[in-house]
Amino acid sequence: MNFMDYADLLKTKIKDRSAKVAVMGLGYVGLPLALEGAKAGFQVIGIDRDGEKVERISQGKNYLLDISEEELKQTVSSGHLIVTGEFCYLKEADIIVICVPTPLNIRKEPDVSYIKDAVTEIVKYRRRGQLITLESTSYPGTTEELIAAPLMEAGLTPGQDVFIAFAPERLDPGNKKFYTRNIPKVVGGETPVCLKTACCFYGEIINEVKPVSSPRVAEMTKILENTYRAVNISLVNELMLFCDQAGIDIWEVIEAAATKPFGIQTFYPGPGIGGHCISVDPFYLSWKAKEYGFHLGFIEWAGRVNNLIIRHVVDKVADALNKHGKCLNGAKILVIGVAYKKDIGDTRESPALVIAERLLQANALIKYFDPYVPEIKLPGGDVFQRISLTEAEIKEADCVLVITDHSSVDYDWLVSHASLIVDTRNALRKVVSGKEKIIRI
Ligand SMILES: NC(=O)c1ccc[n+]([C@@H]2O[C@H](COP(=O)([O-])OP(=O)(O)OC[C@H]3O[C@@H](n4cnc5c(N)ncnc54)[C@H](O)[C@@H]3O)[C@@H](O)[C@H]2O)c1
Repeated sequence: MNFMDYADLLKTKIKDRSAKVAVMGLGYVGLPLALEGAKAGFQVIGIDRDGEKVERISQGKNYLLDISEEELKQTVSSGHLIVTGEFCYLKEADIIVICVPTPLNIRKEPDVSYIKDAVTEIVKYRRRGQLITLESTSYPGTTEELIAAPLMEAGLTPGQDVFIAFAPERLDPGNKKFYTRNIPKVVGGETPVCLKTACCFYGEIINEVKPVSSPRVAEMTKILENTYRAVNISLVNELMLFCDQAGIDIWEVIEAAATKPFGIQTFYPGPGIGGHCISVDPFYLSWKAKEYGFHLGFIEWAGRVNNLIIRHVVDKVADALNKHGKCLNGAKILVIGVAYKKDIGDTRESPALVIAERLLQANALIKYFDPYVPEIKLPGGDVFQRISLTEAEIKEADCVLVITDHSSVDYDWLVSHASLIVDTRNALRKVVSGKEKIIRI
């Protein structure tokens, strides 16, 4: 068969739903995508290295807040979604979507080992005519270097024998309005036929597809989006540090600025950026830029401001205790919320973990409550179990520290029993009484 025949065959299989889809990595990105694919009528094979996850999902047990357990159960029991740890299933797949993690190593450099590992398995079970798309966020050039090149080495030419594209996931966990299906999908193909084939697939499961001229453009698009957020959050955090010194209420300033009907998008101060995307992706870009002799100053500065904010939060707690005649050494601190943002249970890169670590190093006694996180491990290795949020626990704390503003916490009740609260999110803005106990960062 020539490559146009492969493309036509795959297109027909996509349209009549006989194409099999393998999703590699069933995390925050992969599992919702696998479900969307199955709901659209494809036979989906979810493959994950984590045996426990495989076991759990195979039984229809959900672990993500954005997914309905009922829907997952039905999809798994109907056989539309098969979950496995066996990579040999890749051989059966017509379409392979890679959704594996892309973290940073301890030197803040990209760790692309998960992508490399996934590609090693793909190469092992490769077949002519497969479409392979990468959804994991990474620096511009990743698709070419880590997917196209190894497949070429294995004898498959992109656009001739296989179709390769980058299609970044732009999900915002916890967002009720925008989810996998209704977030437009940016797609960049290695060749025009790769792009066409990838758009044909995504067009069946995502409402809107935005084709771009290359994987590098798509890779850069995703990093631009997250760098924009990281830099703006850090900007407002830096302004918050200034306002704190100058005795100006930053929250009032932002509320006023937000009334301008054009030219401003509001970002809010907080304990620092976190999560697997915003605090990681920009550093993929700044690392890559160095190859071009380019120094991306905004990104580096955003990282520095983030460290300053963490120190600022710890200082605020120490100052607040001091004003109450207590010191941080030996103080009982009750942390409320450890997820990196409200109403989700993801603690990856959460500033709460670093702040708790610093408090611990200062000999404070830490307890925490988070409705979505039963256990945490601090960077230094200490493991904590969540406590029940009771009147007695709140009263016992020398200081309550609100790091994540989960909606389900009753803040009026919290304030009524606390002796001192440091609020890093302005979560207590609507509290009516007890304002004198509240210190905002
Ligand atoms: N979480 C988000 O909000 C979000 C949003 C947009 C993009 N992204 C990007 O998507 C990618 C995945 O992120 P995530 O949050 O879903 O990660 P995750 O850690 O929740 O899930 C990744 C899964 O991949 C599995 N895995 C690792 N190596 C594997 C391999 N070789 N084969 C099969 N499975 C493997 C892991 O066991 C894990 O279950 C990252 O690049 C991330 O930056 C994440």
